[in-house]
Amino acid sequence: MSAPSDSGNAAPRDLEISPAELRRLAALTVERLAAHLESLPRQPSADVDGAAELARSLREALPEAGVPYERLLELLFDRVVPKSFNTAGPGYLAYIPGGGLVQAGLADLISDVTNRFVGVWMAAPGLVQLEANVGRWLCDMVGYPPAALGLLTTGGSMANLIALVTARRERLPESFLSGVLYVSDQAHHSVQKAALIAGFPPANVRAVPTDERYCIRTEAIAPLVAADRAAGLTPFLLVANAGTTNTGAVDDLQACADVARDHGLWLHVDGAYGGFFVLTERGQRTLAGLERADSITLDPHKGLFLPYGTGSLLVRDGKALGRAHSVHAAYLPAVPEDPDFVDFSSVSPELSRDFRGLRVWLPLKLFGIEPFREQLDEKLDLIDYVLTELRKIEGIEIVAEPQLTILAFRLVRPGLTPSALNELNRVLLERINSRKRVMLTPAILDGIFVIRIAISSHRTHRDRVDMALDDIRAAIDDV
Ligand SMILES: Cc1ncc(COP(=O)(O)O)c(C=O)c1O
Repeated sequence: MSAPSDSGNAAPRDLEISPAELRRLAALTVERLAAHLESLPRQPSADVDGAAELARSLREALPEAGVPYERLLELLFDRVVPKSFNTAGPGYLAYIPGGGLVQAGLADLISDVTNRFVGVWMAAPGLVQLEANVGRWLCDMVGYPPAALGLLTTGGSMANLIALVTARRERLPESFLSGVLYVSDQAHHSVQKAALIAGFPPANVRAVPTDERYCIRTEAIAPLVAADRAAGLTPFLLVANAGTTNTGAVDDLQACADVARDHGLWLHVDGAYGGFFVLTERGQRTLAGLERADSITLDPHKGLFLPYGTGSLLVRDGKALGRAHSVHAAYLPAVPEDPDFVDFSSVSPELSRDFRGLRVWLPLKLFGIEPFREQLDEKLDLIDYVLTELRKIEGIEIVAEPQLTILAFRLVRPGLTPSALNELNRVLLERINSRKRVMLTPAILDGIFVIRIAISSHRTHRDRVDMALDDIRAAIDDV
């Protein structure tokens, strides 16, 4: 028998919660959340004044004693949450807007409290099936065949990494350092990061130039591939965009698929932002050829308005994911190999993980897909409206017309040097954002400072877009 501890034989304090206490804490939380949601449209689009001081003031030693829940809620909702970009609000037209469907938060609560293990299907067959259904639905949305597999990830960066590793495994030998990948010069930086993490030096990544619409010049790929082959290298992967982060540009996916087929390249399409527009008729036309990709990144935390932490990777030959990820470990339960079911741990880098499937499954079951389609259609209409209205403003140059729901513009004044124009637009952006009804962010395109408007939150509607246009007009009068 072990000796009694210093604290004697007293039982440890209980960490369990009683049903009554659960109800009490949940009610307090819901009260706070409801007030937060109700005030979202009136909250500033961003408030980070004094944020560094706030962050420093929050540093503290490991707490020995507990603090009442009410005090923690106060800290969170009164001090911490407000000092941030209001990424869930209707005025967040920055970067790639998210949203954050509240119903997905309820799903997370259920997932976390029931806390089932979903790494192998036999540990929670029903729940794993619900997540597998989500993967299948995503594959159906893009027109993938039954052999495809959809995997939920924490985001687009992780999906791009898994895609790259899978392509490497499928198309290159074990010693893969001769492998070369081709990405548009507008690719999201997560692709370069993925290459680096997967072991490819930056010199193995070719940035293919883009045209005046910021779409990859497909005719530029073959000569690069030929030169690399002549140099003894092994071209293996082409990454195309279904909606770039800068301007929402969609590459010619049919042409990319042709090039990839002709040169034996794996085609990965990064549709983290734009892929879900395939749910709409207009999006389907823009994204024609998407289903020909070997793998596709789609971010439900962008295009399906779900909370951050919800990405996905779809692979046309689902078995490729297994070949890239499965290794045996003696301490894992022997899992019966049943092709009818999927063990997420055998087709992805993760073993234990959150049950993120419910966060997608629950809103899709609750609403059906139609309201999502309507929302995406509305965003396409809204950006058209913005385009029309911006064109009426004297001095505005549309630098990138929207292909989906992002556009880039700048103010041009005659006689200014390029750097003075850039400075003018930097100040203009500051003035627009200082009104705190919308938050816009810039991009640098061929050395030109442009202001982007990205519309993709389920909370952004015509009224907020009108505010954005008013604030742009007023800021132009100011500068
Ligand atoms: C086109 C594109 N790909 C990949 C990513 C990375 O996605 P995540 O932030 O979910 O990791 C983003 C993020 O904005 C993106 O816009």
